[in-house]
Amino acid sequence: MLNHQIILGIETSCDETAAAIVKKDNDRVKILSNVVATSSDLQAKYGGIIPEQAAREQLKSIIPVITEALEKASLKPNELSAIAITFGPGLIGSLLIGVETAKTLSLLWNKPLIPVNHLLGHFYANWIQVQMSDVRSQISDIPKFPCLGLLVSGGHSDLVLFKNHGNYKYLGGTRDDAAGECFDKCARMLGFAYPGGPKISQLAEGGDPKAFHLPRPMADSDDYDFSFSGLKTAFAHLLKSLDKDNKQANDLCASLQQVIIDSLVQKVLAAGKRYKVEQLIVAGGVAANKQLIAQLKAKFPGKVSAPLPFLCTDNGAMIASAGFFVGESIDPASLQANPNLSLG
Ligand code: KG4
Ligand code: ZN
Repeated sequence: MLNHQIILGIETSCDETAAAIVKKDNDRVKILSNVVATSSDLQAKYGGIIPEQAAREQLKSIIPVITEALEKASLKPNELSAIAITFGPGLIGSLLIGVETAKTLSLLWNKPLIPVNHLLGHFYANWIQVQMSDVRSQISDIPKFPCLGLLVSGGHSDLVLFKNHGNYKYLGGTRDDAAGECFDKCARMLGFAYPGGPKISQLAEGGDPKAFHLPRPMADSDDYDFSFSGLKTAFAHLLKSLDKDNKQANDLCASLQQVIIDSLVQKVLAAGKRYKVEQLIVAGGVAANKQLIAQLKAKFPGKVSAPLPFLCTDNGAMIASAGFFVGESIDPASLQANPNLSLG
């Protein structure tokens, strides 16, 4: 574990340009500033992320975003202890913007550079302590080891057993589409803009999760893998079979969401039992889904932690947090972006 006290975390693996400054406070991480710029208007217009377009937008916003993060934290670069940077996995053009910027700043400011695996970064959002202003303050417990980690994002669905910081065993993952990808692609069939996950979960609130039958992917396999591609196809067939005037969006969304949740919950429960784990940490954009977290909390026989929604989707704070716990600084000249990095 690094002793660096204040870390600038930079994240550009997909379409977000994010920078955050976080501080270590015993074994907790506190946010001093957290800035995220997205090209969501462009995604909505073109129905998804166009890699070259995302990288062009990131090139424009990376320096303003880092400058804003420093200003909001009222810090000068010389007050930073280190810079943590996502070096993979992700879109190569996007990763390069962040990695090359971080390498340059590390040399310019003479600060250690800590490469972070984006997927591990998502999990480390669970170590961030967030103080909500006036109405309520959320100071949740720090996750305890051993713990099971469920990562559900737009590009990944993975199940991992953490024995300690930096010491984990990969249990399984999706064989095809990720959970978030399934939400997004099915949302698109319903005519909703990218990212469709939040829209589906919103509509699902007013729907019946048992209204439509959809297949439970890999329900009978005794591994910890997932599959969501067949579900997407089944959803497309279901839509075609419905009377055009009779597309009950709420029921469709609730049924789809429930099938995705069922497959995730089933494998989490099986892994928790097999490895006798009493703590689950959920991470990634889909962890912002309230029903998923509620159903995991109701069924997992132990503690369930999930970051607040703004820390579930891509951000720099989670990268800086991972930098504290599992980061090791390296020579900036030797760092290369790795779009295919995995947890496995
Ligand atoms: O972690 P993330 O920001 O990006 C990746 O690293 O992929 O996750 C984005 C994904 C998208 O697929 C989005 O639809 C999904 O997270 N998402 C949700 C919700 N909020 C975001 N999916 C379901 N329910 C939500 N409330
Ligand atoms: Zn992500």
